[in-house]
Amino acid sequence: MKPIYWDNGIVKLLDQRLLPDKEVYVEVKSVKEMANALREMRIRGAPNVGIAGAYGIVLGIWNYFGSVGDLPEVYHSWCEWLQKARPTAYNLARALSLFRPLFQPENLSSTSLSELKEQSLYIAHGLVQAEESACERIGTHGERLIPPRGRILTLCNTGSLAAYGIGTALGIIRKAHQARKNIFVWVMETRPWLQGARLTAWELQQDKIPFRLIVDSVAGQLFREKQVDLVLVGADRIAHNGDTANKIGTYPLAILAHYHDIPFYVAAPRSTFETTRHDGSHIPIEERPEEEVLTFHGIAVAPPQTRAYNPVFDITPAYLITAFITDTGVYSPSQIPAL
Ligand code: MRU
Repeated sequence: MKPIYWDNGIVKLLDQRLLPDKEVYVEVKSVKEMANALREMRIRGAPNVGIAGAYGIVLGIWNYFGSVGDLPEVYHSWCEWLQKARPTAYNLARALSLFRPLFQPENLSSTSLSELKEQSLYIAHGLVQAEESACERIGTHGERLIPPRGRILTLCNTGSLAAYGIGTALGIIRKAHQARKNIFVWVMETRPWLQGARLTAWELQQDKIPFRLIVDSVAGQLFREKQVDLVLVGADRIAHNGDTANKIGTYPLAILAHYHDIPFYVAAPRSTFETTRHDGSHIPIEERPEEEVLTFHGIAVAPPQTRAYNPVFDITPAYLITAFITDTGVYSPSQIPAL
């Protein structure tokens, strides 16, 4: 199952808004359409948001008929549109920056538009391969940390729909299941978009991995009942000191794990680490429309005129994280700055 792929000048996205009811691919034909698809959550999950951004730039170049001299400025506005659509995932900023050398005046003066098209496609395809193999390696490193019969609590969706290949945290779960460790997964539904209920449950079902779904507020009670052996989550952006932005609800989960002395692992490829950002205090937190909280499937769940607050990521301080599982190995927070 491919969450996104290039098809002869068009990008096809498996529409994650419609899952698990319908498996429908939508066509994306321009940078603006890609920015909209990202904003509308048709594709999501930090690594795949980065890949979508990269193909967004490719679409920009493939449909560009202006002068080559204007391209640095045009590229700048493409990046702005795409970045604004999902500001928290560092994978997106990083993916967009991979194209910067193409748009340097020195390169533009010696490269034709058709060469630029090929070069941009090469970069985007390369990113897909890199993310896919990073997930494989994260899975291999992380699987060793999972005890036999481990009961894993996870949030949001970190599988193939979020990161190319087997996924990050969910990739580790897959590997542990393949290693016949008899694991069990607690899946948090992840309000308001229900990435856990709709997407993680769907992926786990396909792989026949035992799980149960919980509403997000059940987590505390699970810890009290000693029903969790470890917490495994993904990340959208990790600062130099290890502070981590991830799906809203990660921070309280880390506090719960700390309080109950349960390991709390963050799984992410190196493309999620923003080495130039000192700590998490100023990571941009995406705030989404109030309607996402005030309605459910289009039906109001609160009285008219109710205001909602809908930040969709939070920051977990590094000291609450037991270890980071990356494509190069497993590291404690204190090792992150040296990486
Ligand atoms: O808003 P989303 O669904 O894009 O949020 C996704 C997450 O928070 C994931 O945990 C994170 O991107 C890592 S995905 C491998």
